[in-house]
Amino acid sequence: AVERSLRPHRLSDYIGQTAVKSQLEVYIKAALKREEAMDHVLLYGPPGLGKTTLALVIATELGVHIRTTSGPAIEKPGDLVALLNELQPGDVLFIDEVHRLPKIVEEMLYSAMEDFYIDIVVGEGPTAHPVHFPLPPFTLIGATTRAGMLSAPLRDRFGITEHMAYYNEDELKQIVLRSAGIFNMAVPESAALEVARRSRGTPRIANRLLRRIRDFADVADTTLSVRLVDHALDQLQVDDRGLDAIDRKLLMMMIRDYDGGPVGLNTIAANIGEETATIEEMYEPYLLQIGYLKRTPRGRMVTRAGYQHLNIPFTEH
Ligand code: ADE
Repeated sequence: AVERSLRPHRLSDYIGQTAVKSQLEVYIKAALKREEAMDHVLLYGPPGLGKTTLALVIATELGVHIRTTSGPAIEKPGDLVALLNELQPGDVLFIDEVHRLPKIVEEMLYSAMEDFYIDIVVGEGPTAHPVHFPLPPFTLIGATTRAGMLSAPLRDRFGITEHMAYYNEDELKQIVLRSAGIFNMAVPESAALEVARRSRGTPRIANRLLRRIRDFADVADTTLSVRLVDHALDQLQVDDRGLDAIDRKLLMMMIRDYDGGPVGLNTIAANIGEETATIEEMYEPYLLQIGYLKRTPRGRMVTRAGYQHLNIPFTEH
């Protein structure tokens, strides 16, 4: 319930993603003006940047209901039919991890998105017959970590595609201050900025760290300060650039066992005991963004900056 209450409900309360917001504002206004369902929206970018939140905001701004599900949750065509059947004209259907839809379900979505109907087969064996099932106009909002994971036919059916980028420190600071306000916590700007710096550009991480720091403050019966943030984040093994134990383990392993690389993604995953997809979608993007890792045709390599961060002398190779 707390997680949800931290989410902004209106576009005007949504901090950051300025380019995305200003475009969506136009498309929302246009749909309202024409009294039409807004075109389908694909949101892509690393986890924790607010794709689900933005879908909820869009539905609120459009004044429609939203049904929320995820690609893997829709196992068979009947599951999709049940969801579509509940939509009223103009409603939003939000599908998280839209790249993980089963193929047969994805194919049903094509006509649903393009012409608002589905053809389903009713009955079995000799009594099986196709039924043409019209749908109300609706807006599909799909979220995925990388647009490239979607098949071309599905990707092409989204009229609006928005890339979610990492947040800068100032935006994250504002988010921390906003969340602190909701928690009724007094947070000095300097402490909020320190949390922001160590949140890997990600509001979900900033809010999670803030909750843990709040636990430390409550138990120690102190107010929040840079010193307390430092102490709490040390305990959480989050370092001064926001890297956590797994980030550091990954870099260390590459340096110690592979001389800094190149190392293939699957090898990295196997060596640190995480799923390949988790490494690729959650850990690697930020390490690439801050320049601690680089991609080469032969695999990932730790950069000079990566060595420096771990206080290990860089050797040219
Ligand atoms: N909480 C999490 N993400 C947010 C955002 N982008 N704006 C405002 N509050 C948030």
